[in-house]
Amino acid sequence: MSRSLFPNSRPRRLRISENMRRMVSENHLSAADFIAPLFVMEGQNQKAEISSMPGYYCFTQDLLMKEIEEIQSLGILSVLLFAKVPDDKKDNKGTEALNPDGLMQKTTAAIKKEFPDMVLMTDIALDPYSSYGHDGIVVDGKIINDKSAELLAKMAVSHAEAGADLVAPSDMMDGRIGMMRHALETAQFFDTGIMAYSAKYASSYYGPFRDALDSAPGFGDKKTYQMNPSNVVEAVKEAQLDEQEGADIIMVKPGLPYLDVVRAVKESVSVPVSVYNVSGEYAMIKAAAQKGWLNENEAMMEALTGFKRAGADLIATYFAKDAARLLLL
Ligand code: PBG
Repeated sequence: MSRSLFPNSRPRRLRISENMRRMVSENHLSAADFIAPLFVMEGQNQKAEISSMPGYYCFTQDLLMKEIEEIQSLGILSVLLFAKVPDDKKDNKGTEALNPDGLMQKTTAAIKKEFPDMVLMTDIALDPYSSYGHDGIVVDGKIINDKSAELLAKMAVSHAEAGADLVAPSDMMDGRIGMMRHALETAQFFDTGIMAYSAKYASSYYGPFRDALDSAPGFGDKKTYQMNPSNVVEAVKEAQLDEQEGADIIMVKPGLPYLDVVRAVKESVSVPVSVYNVSGEYAMIKAAAQKGWLNENEAMMEALTGFKRAGADLIATYFAKDAARLLLL
């Protein structure tokens, strides 16, 4: 076009006041968008701050209940539970992962008893239970697929028995969503959903989480199962496979370095898409804010808004409470 549209078109007109900006805002955050991750540990009346996640805690079950009460009071509808397992309960066959009286199962039942309306998601993967710190079973230095997926499907049934609303497999084994769906149907858990970590990348940004659960891989890395950060076509393939295998929600993880993946996945599946704003992303904003280099609340809200803009329907985030509190103002 040769003729300038200016001054007929002046986009700044719609930015002139707070109300004008709000009126034409294309995306809105709400507490209902957030999934609050929770870390539970054995014991009583204790909370331990995670050193690389300032302001975030691992709770014993009793104190976790108080935390959930607060989460609920802020309008957050959903929590995602992770268990910190003591070293002496870790092995290479997921014994503790399948224990009906294990920390995960007991805490799941307790949460559903006290907070029946809270949508409870539980993490499915072997790493917190594994003496090798890997998400599957290790044989000859390799993370074997099908036996791991079989075990993870049993774990899903065990969590469903305990009362989980959705199981959240974060392991990246092939075919596990189909196997889980089949196992849940066979055990008559027709209404237990699956939030699949479909596009989960081999990421450096999980560091603080591994500190929290003491779950860093004991040898090697997770690159034979988690995705190569270079790839996006592959993310669409993973998401479509999981949707076909029966996933109810598809997740992309991490969040901030993968907004293009969120968009691509959102456009290729017909189920809600969630994104995981992971521990390292939380730590970066916290650390910069502690140094006075960033305004924490502004940086947090901008990041969370970015996820919505990229197409995420749900956001798992350690900022859930802080952001929900700001949204109430
Ligand atoms: C492991 C798991 C990880 C996270 C969630 N589930 C770490 C990993 O894959 O090593 C990371 C979450 C975060 O960093 O916030 N199954």
